[in-house]
Amino acid sequence: MTYVVAHRGLSSKSPENTYHSFDLAISSGINYIEFDVQLTKDKEVVIIHDETIDRTSNGFGEVKEKTMNELLDLDFGSWFSEKYKNTKIPQFSKLLESYNDINFVIEIKGSDKDLVPKVLELISKNNYWKDKIYESNNNKPKIIFCSFLPKQIEKLRFFSNDIAIGFLTKNIDQKVFDFVDQYHLNGLFPYYKLLNKELIEKLRKKNLMISSWGFENIEDANKLIKLGIDGVTVDWPDEIIVD
Ligand code: G3P
Ligand code: CA
Repeated sequence: MTYVVAHRGLSSKSPENTYHSFDLAISSGINYIEFDVQLTKDKEVVIIHDETIDRTSNGFGEVKEKTMNELLDLDFGSWFSEKYKNTKIPQFSKLLESYNDINFVIEIKGSDKDLVPKVLELISKNNYWKDKIYESNNNKPKIIFCSFLPKQIEKLRFFSNDIAIGFLTKNIDQKVFDFVDQYHLNGLFPYYKLLNKELIEKLRKKNLMISSWGFENIEDANKLIKLGIDGVTVDWPDEIIVD
């Protein structure tokens, strides 16, 4: 059965990458939440998609130029709706403390060389999550890591052969397949328009987890669900019906 992933939480109905969007996804019965991680100026792991805070807060500037405390003073909800005024940006360490009965798709968004080690350190320090990171301890991965950035994927795999990693890609060519093989990746996560029956069969033969993203409407997600892919990451996970 295809797993449905709440993209940046339930981001069509609440401000993306916030506790509100994660809580709404969970209360809607969604099993996987996706979010993006980056490092602040003082090397704290923070959950935010863009390189700057301009679009999703009442502040301006680059995430990597702000300290965690500076970010915590800002409002990450009003841009979406007045109803969400004074929403705080989530700290990854706090997210790990506050959530357990849910599965994570963690996108390593930032390119900082310290980001992956810091994310892994925080997971390893958390009593609940530290064992859940390993695939062999779970029937289905509780944590799936992914990134568009080959260097960050390399760092993840260097940490362990027993964590689930998917490579996000906007193109498919031999280089992509070679990279997936070289690092024994668990999954390939292509932009939805790249996937078709032939490619799905090819990826199946390689025993790869196939998950897709970038959907602009429910119909396109449903088409790929019918073709039997493993995961779809969407802004409206509550509107997708998987039999
Ligand atoms: O899960 C993949 C998806 O999140 C990638 O796109 O831009 O939303 O991070 P983006
Ligand atoms: Ca993402």
